[in-house]
Amino acid sequence: MNDPRFAIQTNNLTRRFGDLIAVDQLTLSVPRGVIFGFLGPNGAGKSTTINMVIGLLPPTAGTAAVAGFDVRTASLEVKRRIGVVPEGLNLYERLTATEQIELVGRLHGLPVTEIKHRIPALLELLELADAQDKMILDYSQGMRKKTAIACALIHAPEVLFLDEPFESIDPISTRAIKAVLRDMVAQRGTTIFFSTHVMELAERFCDQVGIINKGKLAGSGSIPDLRQRAGLPEDAPLEDVFLRTVGAETEDEGLLGWLTGKA
Ligand SMILES: Nc1ncnc2c1ncn2[C@@H]1O[C@H](COP(=O)(O)OP(=O)(O)OP(=O)(O)O)[C@@H](O)[C@H]1O
Ligand SMILES: [Mg+2]
Repeated sequence: MNDPRFAIQTNNLTRRFGDLIAVDQLTLSVPRGVIFGFLGPNGAGKSTTINMVIGLLPPTAGTAAVAGFDVRTASLEVKRRIGVVPEGLNLYERLTATEQIELVGRLHGLPVTEIKHRIPALLELLELADAQDKMILDYSQGMRKKTAIACALIHAPEVLFLDEPFESIDPISTRAIKAVLRDMVAQRGTTIFFSTHVMELAERFCDQVGIINKGKLAGSGSIPDLRQRAGLPEDAPLEDVFLRTVGAETEDEGLLGWLTGKA
């Protein structure tokens, strides 16, 4: 099943937390060189899926592979090839951005001269240069996220996993980061797997999307394919496709009349 033509493959990937099935028999294939948006409501299982695929969380059942390497039996091969911005960021508060990025570069075995060459370009891209000598402890949320993005990019990975990458990042930096990510895909064949709730971002940025709801894959493919499968017209926005696919087109039951003023 581990076909190296695919950047990411999962087969019946499942994770339970006690009685809760957070990810339920998820089978998904992401080809190389695409931007794949992983969409789903809060608690749908997006982060749990990412954490299993990157080898941070053991699955209860099923398998996951990156670039043809099984994450359980060849986790080092997987880790070598991936860059990750996890939901919790995992930064060392008492390091500066430069030190944190350098640490990640060293863990990936990059020569120090190469790391020192790459860091200023990343700091410039992410507009972190002014803050590079401050401890992460003193960073804003957006600056932390940017530091995590720099750590994910320092070794120019084959496959990038970004959990809500643009949350708390300002529009100027978002645009610059998106342009670099697009170049990585177009020029180097990088694969980008990212989760988001922002439909406009997914609509404009992704080649393919997967929609997960209550741990189950509700649909995956190109946006026009999903639109057609949902029985929606060609000009229907992704938000409608998403709501139809997860079955969340609920009626207003008037329970919030005390708040909204509606009867
Ligand atoms: N460590 C854990 N222990 C117990 N339950 C967990 C744990 N991690 C996640 N869950 C549960 O698993 C389900 C899926 O969580 P997950 O974090 O994957 O959702 P998500 O799609 O990333 O949501 P969000 O959009 O809010 O980030 C949720 O019901 C959550 O409460
Ligand atoms: Mg999440």
